[in-house]
Amino acid sequence: MRDHPHSNLPGEPAMMGIMADDARPRILSGMQPTQDSLHLGNYLGAMTQWVALQNDYDAFYMLADLHALTVNPEPAALRERTRRTAAQYLAGGLDPDRATLFAQSHVAAHAELAWVLSCHTGYGEAGRMTQFKDKSAKRGGDGPSVGLFTYPVLMAADILLYDAALVPVGEDQRQHLELTRDLAERLNARFGPDTVVVPSPHIVRSIAKIYDLQNPTAKMSKSEASAKGTIWLLKDPQRAAKAVKSAVTDDGAEILFDPVAKPGVSNLLSIYAALTQRSMEDVVAEFEGRQYGHLKVALADVVVDVLIPFQEKVNTFLADPAELDAILARGAERAREVADQTLTRVYDRVGLLPPARSAWS
Ligand code: TRP
Repeated sequence: MRDHPHSNLPGEPAMMGIMADDARPRILSGMQPTQDSLHLGNYLGAMTQWVALQNDYDAFYMLADLHALTVNPEPAALRERTRRTAAQYLAGGLDPDRATLFAQSHVAAHAELAWVLSCHTGYGEAGRMTQFKDKSAKRGGDGPSVGLFTYPVLMAADILLYDAALVPVGEDQRQHLELTRDLAERLNARFGPDTVVVPSPHIVRSIAKIYDLQNPTAKMSKSEASAKGTIWLLKDPQRAAKAVKSAVTDDGAEILFDPVAKPGVSNLLSIYAALTQRSMEDVVAEFEGRQYGHLKVALADVVVDVLIPFQEKVNTFLADPAELDAILARGAERAREVADQTLTRVYDRVGLLPPARSAWS
């Protein structure tokens, strides 16, 4: 029997995991608002997947604006990019009535839980994160910040606050996810097995793996972006068409899906199949006996046909920032309901005194 004085606090084990109003398993994911535009790799790799998951999961999709501070952005640029990222999520089909879309900084519990977790993270453990090592090697000036060092701890807090069963992220986040699991298990071992939910290590495969058009063995990514190798969702669609037409292709003339022997052509085929939502077989059959140039022209047209309506939708959202902010405010409210329960539970378990109720309230 429990005789714990706070056994009726919200967030106690009996209530863990499932919200009264939603029995779907939880997922959480996030993207940093560090760019003026998402690229096609984000769109096909993450966004379409998030949209697909919002039906069967109680999904929390976060604008990781606190994480974005690690690159020390200009304040106005950060604000603008945060809204632009939100607008792109919505234009991509994320539905604020089905999923919870919110800004990380609007939910104070993220920074608060991160502090507790940082007290349980080894200095060496954090130092072994390969992304930290890569990013700090690239940083000039004063070198890496403490924030960059503790970035994965904040990410663990993001995940654990929502009792997320699954975290749909790309391969590049695997190590951060493993740290999150280690921290969750450590907390449960020390403070009780139901202190936090250990998220599944399962990394959801992206629908299509998209590579740089000029360097088709490197992933299409914001940090490695070569000017002509990346398709930006919010830039001139004609420029994107040009980039497709000048994509690097492979020796030979035959159009085959063979990522090892023909990485360039295979990448174009993947993008084509993903954007037209057709099977690879189907697409390869369409181009049988035709030349690389045909594929490029066809893909350029498809890209333009996707970008134009997407940009129109984004512009509609950006034209009404008050509405956009209202959507984020609603999301933050729902996020806070869940996150605050977890934080209360963890604060209690680690031995922090519950704030006494004021005699006047
Ligand atoms: N680090 C992630 C990235 O760069 C973004 C992120 C922050 C995230 N917090 C998260 C992803 C929590 C998943 C879950 O892609």
